[in-house]
Amino acid sequence: RPGRLVIAVDGPAASGKGTLARRLAAHYGLPYLDTGLLYRMVARAMLDAGHDIHDAVAAEQVVNSFDETAFPEERLRGREIGEAASVVAAMPAVRAGLLTRQRRFAAQPGGAVLDGRDIGTVICPEAPAKLFVTATPEVRAARRHKELIGRGEAVTLDGILADIRRRDARDSGRSDAPLKAAEDAIVLDTSALTVEEAASAAIGIVEGRRAA
Ligand code: CDP
Ligand code: CDP
Repeated sequence: RPGRLVIAVDGPAASGKGTLARRLAAHYGLPYLDTGLLYRMVARAMLDAGHDIHDAVAAEQVVNSFDETAFPEERLRGREIGEAASVVAAMPAVRAGLLTRQRRFAAQPGGAVLDGRDIGTVICPEAPAKLFVTATPEVRAARRHKELIGRGEAVTLDGILADIRRRDARDSGRSDAPLKAAEDAIVLDTSALTVEEAASAAIGIVEGRRAA
């Protein structure tokens, strides 16, 4: 498969990984999958059905039956869904239920860009180009706060910072596919970078990997 390229982009909430992954996909003409949306869909389907978000038996049923086309992105981006997604994402049956469709997406002939928490470590361990995108919790909270205010949610910066710290701890502390940089990932700290600067740094990293 000449020219096949898989790019794995991981990192914590609001680090800018989605923005970078989209830019990389556009730059290389590759399909893009936001894997966080899959976990958000499972959480949304759980809440819509009236299940307790901690009910692992219900979550296993939901992950094997939910309709990926049923949720407009608008219903997945809210504050409570990010939090609920990280609860279901700690359940091994939920992760197992979402594994195949992520691997299938990555296996497309030309390659793909995927972003999430475990792309470089679990979903695409063979990816030649892996980025681990970070930023300080304060910077990430400010970015997410701005987005949620834009959505019309009544949120405070302190509240969002607390959410981010709690989600970091849950995502990093779980035993199944915890958030961590793959050994061969390149860390990109976007705290002091504009989107443009981060995008050109990311393209530079991928080019370096492709040349290697
Ligand atoms: O955009 P943000 O980083 O806030 O969240 P997201 O990427 O939409 O992911 C929501 C939650 O799904 C995360 O907090 C993780 O718990 C979980 N997730 C995961 O466990 N593995 C992935 N590959 C992607 C998301
Ligand atoms: O996917 P993730 O949750 O990591 O972050 P995102 O959805 O890409 O959102 C990050 C937000 O920070 C967006 O509103 C970006 O415009 C902004 N931002 C960025 O992504 N990268 C920078 N270097 C600076 C700002």
